[in-house]
Amino acid sequence: MPSLDGKKILVGVSGGIAAYKIPILIRLLIKEGAEVQVVQTPYSQNFVTPLTLSTVSQKPVYSEFFEQNTGDWHSHIELARNCDLMVIAPATANTLSKLAYGQADNLLLAVYMATPAPVMIVPAMDVDMYNHPATQNNIKILSDRQNHIVLEAEEGELASGLTGKGRMPEPETILQEIISFFQKKNTLKGKTFVVTAGPTYEKIDPVRFIGNFSSGKMGFAIAEELASRGAKVHLVSGPVSIPYPNHPAITVHKVVSALEMHDAVKKLFPESDGAIFAAAVADFRPVSTANNKIKRENKTSFEIKLEKNPDIAAEMGKIKKDNQITVGFALETDEGLQNASKKLVSKNLDFIVLNSLKDKGSGFGTDTNKITIIDKGNKKTVFELKHKRKVAEDIVNHLVSLLK
Ligand code: CTP
Repeated sequence: MPSLDGKKILVGVSGGIAAYKIPILIRLLIKEGAEVQVVQTPYSQNFVTPLTLSTVSQKPVYSEFFEQNTGDWHSHIELARNCDLMVIAPATANTLSKLAYGQADNLLLAVYMATPAPVMIVPAMDVDMYNHPATQNNIKILSDRQNHIVLEAEEGELASGLTGKGRMPEPETILQEIISFFQKKNTLKGKTFVVTAGPTYEKIDPVRFIGNFSSGKMGFAIAEELASRGAKVHLVSGPVSIPYPNHPAITVHKVVSALEMHDAVKKLFPESDGAIFAAAVADFRPVSTANNKIKRENKTSFEIKLEKNPDIAAEMGKIKKDNQITVGFALETDEGLQNASKKLVSKNLDFIVLNSLKDKGSGFGTDTNKITIIDKGNKKTVFELKHKRKVAEDIVNHLVSLLK
């Protein structure tokens, strides 16, 4: 069976010279069994005609919201919702900027804004435009976006006569990227994972609690990454102020305290293929919770006695079966590697993700993280500072490598 059998691919063409190669890409996609719908910007018609694109894609090509002659309306929503992947190639500097900032002044951009499908963006332009900080910034914004893949432009001769980075990868290379995207999508099909996320709140009285600064962003990004690869996910989340992931394969279990998180995980873990413990669980809780608000009057100080909460990761580590994988996090301020390695052993984890509060842009509340993965054999892999969504990809890639 061809590798893209039945896949619906929406190809968006913007106005750069590399557009002349898009008919070849469309041919290759169709040969692999894909169904291709083309949307092109009006300006791109100078580089590749609608007739050429509709001939190779075997479908009408859309460029305007309205058909000039008939007055027919092309629904951007229908186009946007009726595809498994949107590929924007070539993406010019102008289109990249509009994609990054959400402008929708042509049909291609409106379709992009409306699509729930993953998006692959293939920039192509002259070397100086590509290297311009504005373009690089737009590429970063788009790469950090969930479900977005931005291919790197290639080095070589450019239409301007200059040589440098900016060439669109050849259609064969783009095809391979599309094929591997769909292969990756199914890597965790049939698997179920439990992910803990966010802080826990330990009640002192009806209006106060002991908590921490965890935002839940890292755990949510991991849950989304697992789901995007076909896994079912039970996301056990403490109280957070960010929106819960909206993916049909993710079930959210809302909890407040460490004990509630422990109960939920205990029920879900035995039936799972593994767990990723990204929550910042409070290690201690008040021994007793006051029924009424504790009043300030007549006190100069008072003490709250704390008792230990269960270590959820360590407990699951004790009951885990050979075919289950557990992954922990260590957020450290000092002696990061040593502390993380200790936790890897004491919690019987398959690997631990270390992030240090000493690294700028790492830890609680930020959108970025800089991690080191430490394996059972004490092998360390250091990653760059990245958006938490990309960090989630690295973590899940590591998990997938252990499943084989
Ligand atoms: N963890 C857990 N349950 C707890 C405490 C921690 O499941 N009661 C998990 C965290 O989700 C994380 C890992 O264990 O994956 C390490 O958490 P961390 O707070 O760094 O370690 P602790 O064991 O609590 O040690 P300490 O706070 O003393 O550094």
